[in-house]
Amino acid sequence: MFRYYQKKIIPMEHQKFNFRSLEELKETILRLGVELPFSERLSDELPTSEGMGGELPVSERLDVLKTPLLLGSYLINNRIAIHPMEGCDGTADGTPGELTFRRYERFGASGAGLLWVEACAVNHEGRGNARHLYLNRDSLPSFKKLFNGMMAAAKPASENDFRLISLYNTSDTTSKADIQSNTDHQSTHSEQNGNSITFRPYTVLQLTHSGRYSKPSPDATAVVAVCKNPYLDPYSNPKRRLVTDEELERLEDLYVETAQLAKEVGFDAVDVKCCHRYLISELLSAHTREGRYGGSFKNRVRFLLNIIDKLKANVEINVVVRFNAYDAIPYPYGWGTDENGRPALDEPRRLMQMLWEKGVRLVNITTGNPYYNPHIGRPADIGPYIAAEHPVESAARMLHIIKEMKAAATGMTLVGTGFSWFREYGANIAAGCIEKGWLDIAGFGRQSFAYPDFARDIFANGAMSRNKCCVTCTKCTELMRFGGQTGCIVRDSKIYLPLWREATKGRTMMSAKIAHHV
Ligand SMILES: Cc1cc2nc3c(=O)[nH]c(=O)nc-3n(C[C@H](O)[C@H](O)[C@H](O)COP(=O)(O)O)c2cc1C
Ligand code: SF4
Repeated sequence: MFRYYQKKIIPMEHQKFNFRSLEELKETILRLGVELPFSERLSDELPTSEGMGGELPVSERLDVLKTPLLLGSYLINNRIAIHPMEGCDGTADGTPGELTFRRYERFGASGAGLLWVEACAVNHEGRGNARHLYLNRDSLPSFKKLFNGMMAAAKPASENDFRLISLYNTSDTTSKADIQSNTDHQSTHSEQNGNSITFRPYTVLQLTHSGRYSKPSPDATAVVAVCKNPYLDPYSNPKRRLVTDEELERLEDLYVETAQLAKEVGFDAVDVKCCHRYLISELLSAHTREGRYGGSFKNRVRFLLNIIDKLKANVEINVVVRFNAYDAIPYPYGWGTDENGRPALDEPRRLMQMLWEKGVRLVNITTGNPYYNPHIGRPADIGPYIAAEHPVESAARMLHIIKEMKAAATGMTLVGTGFSWFREYGANIAAGCIEKGWLDIAGFGRQSFAYPDFARDIFANGAMSRNKCCVTCTKCTELMRFGGQTGCIVRDSKIYLPLWREATKGRTMMSAKIAHHV
């Protein structure tokens, strides 16, 4: 089943997206022998095509991406999420900047039912760059403005949203009963504002400490959960020291304080970010750490679970988690891996179950480390090295791991990652995965930078437009690494191309070398 988890022979040339039709993509999926659920139809207007045969089931459901979803006392209007994406465009004190406001207005207007706002630091030391957002008492008013701007821009994306909103605001009790029969007096998450009815996406703020990737200033020292990591040390801040148990305990309380502020801003939930090898994510793999937060599984998940307990006890806000289920770094330095870096998912599965028992109901799964092995979590046409596998295989691995996590806690609402590389067909794969029950909501990262209204196009036209799609050139990540404010250099070039030119002046650019380290 997991045969494509094995490393492949390194291709002579990196495989790029070059499919002129869905059929061509399907042929490649079949040739590579990966299983990827695939929905052929995004709207009633599109004809059903033949099944993909073999292991690639075709959905009978036409518009699953429009289907609302219950989450506790909320009804999320559709199955599309904007993933958290740092723009590195805050001010020196962590307040949202001009481009932050622009970005979130665009995301608000996207029509996506779930807006997962980017990593926001819980203290100054934990910022990953000098423009990293940082929520505190002083920046609170600006965060409120950001949130209100995002919500003011939010509009229903589909007829389905209109239907839900009007159902909920009508005096027709039968219609309301349709919804309420399933929801136990739930709210549709849409609000009546004077005479106009406002669409209200579900909103999450991601809270983080950047750990080994902290760099609030060029000479800052980063705190790490594990002092020596032969795989990651060459790729992170060379000035680092081991975070103490006492510091971790104090940090737990900082998450609670910041979550309280997030609630005051208006967010529906906070995400205790536990991915991409930032501090909490690194703690999960702290096999070689001593003390209360290292060694045994119980110790390694302690920090995350303590924060969740404290949040539940002290702040009236939903608690959600974005976590890496696999980072492709060999045990004992990795998480969800064996000695060869292959998936060993017992611990991530256990964590899923523990999160469920703690009352977490929404989880966003991702994989890989964007500094060390970006192809694992962000399949791309161009990257810092030539990956030893086809991007379809990288995406399929991630989606299979997501499926495994869903199976570990079937009641959990699960947001999946892995669709941007597929351009316009990402919507078909997303719909297929939802129909097959691999995940519940499809999250889009780079696609949201490039094409923020893609959800609207899916709902209105039954398709995404190829010439608006992200081309997975990795330049937004590079721009971030160079200390620039980031966004899509290709599709939003008026704003970001000049910033790219400025940031890359006199620099040596990425060379696509074959990766020997991954
Ligand atoms: C520039 C950039 C910034 C990102 N910032 C965050 C972040 O703040 N939090 C997070 O969990 N993931 C972040 N990600 C990862 C994305 O959320 C997403 O997992 C990744 O891009 C893969 O999804 P995609 O293929 O749809 O792009 C970032 C990615 C990029 C390219
Ligand atoms: S710069 Fe634009 S096209 Fe390139 S990867 Fe980023 S979002 Fe996609």
